[in-house]
Amino acid sequence: MTTTHPTTSHPVTADDRTLDAAVERSNVLDRLIDEQAAAHPERFRVLTGDRPTGPLHVGHHLASLRNRVRLQQRGVETFVVIADYQVVTDRDAIGDIGENVHGLVLDYLAAGLDPERTTIFTHSAVPALGQLVLPFLSLVTDGELRRNPTVKDELALSGGRPLSGLLLTYPVHQAADILFCHGRVVPVGRDQLPHLELTRQVARRFNARYAGGQPVFAEPEALLSDVPLLLGTDGTKMSKSRGNTINLRDTADETADRVRAARTDGERRITYEPARRPEVANLLRLAGLFTGESPQTVAERVGDSGASGLKRVVTEAVNDGLAGHRARRRQLAGDPASVTAVLHEGNRRANEVAERTLATVRAVMGMAY
Ligand code: TRP
Repeated sequence: MTTTHPTTSHPVTADDRTLDAAVERSNVLDRLIDEQAAAHPERFRVLTGDRPTGPLHVGHHLASLRNRVRLQQRGVETFVVIADYQVVTDRDAIGDIGENVHGLVLDYLAAGLDPERTTIFTHSAVPALGQLVLPFLSLVTDGELRRNPTVKDELALSGGRPLSGLLLTYPVHQAADILFCHGRVVPVGRDQLPHLELTRQVARRFNARYAGGQPVFAEPEALLSDVPLLLGTDGTKMSKSRGNTINLRDTADETADRVRAARTDGERRITYEPARRPEVANLLRLAGLFTGESPQTVAERVGDSGASGLKRVVTEAVNDGLAGHRARRRQLAGDPASVTAVLHEGNRRANEVAERTLATVRAVMGMAY
């Protein structure tokens, strides 16, 4: 007898079982944070990050920014890495990196990350973090790196480019992003789970091989978002590079234009049928995530008013949901020096932590001369 998976209804595969185990661990972790974070914040230090490749969109807001703010409110200490070297893992041009980094910090602050409690820093400004990559590279084999499914996917999507040394090894850099500050909780999307597994291996092997079994590094845990993956306005994966996003920095009018141009279908009655009407379902989910309704409820509200009625409801939900964020963002954008100051202070704190960790690593490896 074949068992089918409850959410995918495909036969259960080994990947499903790994994913189910990761979801279960993530749910337990979420409960532990509720119970213990206030008393023991160091056990739940969060490290998370973004690649500064362009403006953040509604998907980032719903799946990661809101979650980071919620964790912060639960008493957790957070580090956010702006992974600037990661920009050139899958492309040659670094782009307008200064502008992109500034835009990320604006969105973090507008979303409610508090720079007193959250350390926002850029990878390139923390040399000791970079140096940790060298001993960590000794702990993984080229076969392990080549088998990484996320690296393989990213290579396939990078338009026939050859595999660069940076793309091949970036999971190890990401392990250093997490381990330099002893991050214990890593809020990630499912696509990043292989990197987290590698990070756990690096921590385990470092302790075993170089530290006589002493726990210099703890193994971090993934905290998975329960927000379903949103598609872009053309029905394909929402992504900065495809021009199908609704960006946080867009105006209400630009948002209305984007939603108006979104792909739907010709049926008058709006229903939530993800398999048969994926584009309509995606818009219903988007609206519901902002209003706090289920997609079915949004569909009932739109009823017989067709694609144009649906788009009106979606535009209103997104614009209302982001009004506060956008107002705060505009205000902060008027004071660029304060944004730079947040980054400088974050970089200073990240350097302090990274230098301490590197000193421990060198001492443990007998390299404190
Ligand atoms: N690779 C992540 C992404 O593309 C960004 C990132 C960099 C990250 N360093 C990290 C995420 C460390 C989690 C932990 O989204």
